[in-house]
Amino acid sequence: MSKPRMGSYKNISIVERRRLREKKYKKHNLANILTHWFNVGMWALLLPTGIAIISSPRLGLSPVWMQELFRNMFGGAANLIKFHYTIGFLWIFVLLFNVLLGFRKYFVPFAISRMLLDKDDIQWLKTKPLQMLGLMKDKTLPPQDAYNAGQKLYMYVVILGTLGIMVSGPVMALKTLFPPIVKQIAQPLHWVSVFAIVAGVIIHVYMGAIFPEEKEAFFSMFGGKVSAWYARAHHEKWYWEKVQEEMDWEEEVAREIESAAGADPQPAPAKSGD
Ligand code: HEM
Repeated sequence: MSKPRMGSYKNISIVERRRLREKKYKKHNLANILTHWFNVGMWALLLPTGIAIISSPRLGLSPVWMQELFRNMFGGAANLIKFHYTIGFLWIFVLLFNVLLGFRKYFVPFAISRMLLDKDDIQWLKTKPLQMLGLMKDKTLPPQDAYNAGQKLYMYVVILGTLGIMVSGPVMALKTLFPPIVKQIAQPLHWVSVFAIVAGVIIHVYMGAIFPEEKEAFFSMFGGKVSAWYARAHHEKWYWEKVQEEMDWEEEVAREIESAAGADPQPAPAKSGD
């Protein structure tokens, strides 16, 4: 295998492209996939019920028919609120349990290997938004890690926003236990945190589920794997890390075979006719 080298993927031959398309790399483990879709399911319940709770004709956050639909479905506003915070507590419990259980083994290594921003990421952040506006089209984007700089930023928003919701939600649900000043801070914190995540989710879902180039990323959120071709074209630094891992593994196997052969020489093959 040739030595890792960054460069454009566009001049790769068709034969090599075919080989890369068939080869798969694991990107997400099962725990990540399950946590992600559990989170999506919980958001699908929490966001509409949350909007229904704060909706009043004066604010106009949701149409009157939606407010009535939710109140009728749950048998009144009090039940709607109870449902919202019960699901909220379940969401907090499962997420905290998952993160704390695998904090040292998964969460910290994930944050270090996949979330830290480097010089290439800063350059990407300066260029990509302009390219999305139709400017600097001919400028090549710097190679990216397993997640591009936009995805890394989004993860910070998700983590901070989730913490904001996890702190403010219980304060709002268990009002009587807290002094007024804490409740006054909790409410805006809840709103800002939800708003930040939802703003990011709109782009995230568009990129993940609708944007044709990212189709493989979407399916990787079910099967865990992407093709080497996708990795090479969109996450080049990660691709070369994977290639390096394979080369290291091959060298190790070769060393093991050599030392095993040295320690235990193969018996000479029997001569025919013996
Ligand atoms: C239907 C809605 C959603 C879809 C279709 C979706 C799709 C995806 C896809 C395709 C990826 C993999 C990206 C890649 O490997 O390059 C991903 C990762 C991620 N998503 Fe979503 N997502 C959705 C909702 C959400 C929500 C609501 C949140 C958080 C509030 C979220 C947070 C994340 C995070 C933090 C990651 C990266 C961490 C990981 O790999 O587990 N997503 N999502």
